[in-house]
Amino acid sequence: MLLKDDTAPGGPWLANALARFAAGADDLVPTTRALLVRTIAAPAQHGRLINTLSLLEHMGSHKIMATQHRADIDQATLRHVAEEAHHAYFMKRQAEKTADRPLEYVAADLLAPAAARMYFQRLEAATVRTLGRDCGPRAAYLYMSMIVEFRALWFYGLYQETLQRAHHVLSLKRVIGEEQNHLDEMATRLEAAGERSDAHVTSLLARERTLFVRLLSAFDQAVA
Ligand SMILES: [Fe+2]
Ligand SMILES: [Fe+2]
Repeated sequence: MLLKDDTAPGGPWLANALARFAAGADDLVPTTRALLVRTIAAPAQHGRLINTLSLLEHMGSHKIMATQHRADIDQATLRHVAEEAHHAYFMKRQAEKTADRPLEYVAADLLAPAAARMYFQRLEAATVRTLGRDCGPRAAYLYMSMIVEFRALWFYGLYQETLQRAHHVLSLKRVIGEEQNHLDEMATRLEAAGERSDAHVTSLLARERTLFVRLLSAFDQAVA
C-alpha cells in the first residue's frame, strides 16, 4: 500500500509519511503475517478476527456520528461515516460466512475484544491530550481518523496479501481503496485547515504503535 511517488492524491507529504510509517512498522510484519496465516487456516478463529474488524469499523463509524453532528457537516464527512458503516457490515457478512454461523459483538465471537476496544479508546484519549483541550471536535476527528487510517492501510494490505497467498476468496480491495481515500482526505483537509502539525502526527503515530503492539499480542494470545 506504499505510494511510491509524489503524484499520490495526498501529495508528497502523505507519500513521505506513508513511507516513514511502513519503515517504522517493518519489524511488526513477521509477527502480524504469522498471526494472519495461523488465523486464516482456522475458519472459526478467522471468523472471530473478521468479526473483531467489523466491531472496530463499527466503533469508527459510531465515533464519527457521535462527534460530527454540527449543522455544517459536509459531504466528505457524511461519505466517510457511510463508508465506515459499510465496512462494518461487509466485515460482519464475511465473518459469518467464514465462521458459518451468526456472530455477535460478544467475547465468544470476537478476538481479544477488551484490547480492541482499548486500542480505540486510548488512541482517542491521546488525540485529545496531544491537540489540547481547546481543539475543536473537527480537528480531533481528522487527526484520529488519519492516524487510524495509517494502520488500517498497513494492516489490510498485509491481510490482503496473506489471503491471496492462501487462495482465500475474501478480497479487501474495495475496503483498501476506500481507506486510502480516507487517508488522503484527512491529510488534505488538515492541511487546508492549517492544522496539520508534523510534531502532532509523529507523537500520535508513536502512541498508536504502542497501542497496536499491545493489540497484536492480545490477538496472538487469543489464537494461540
Ligand atoms: Fe474502514
Ligand atoms: Fe476509513
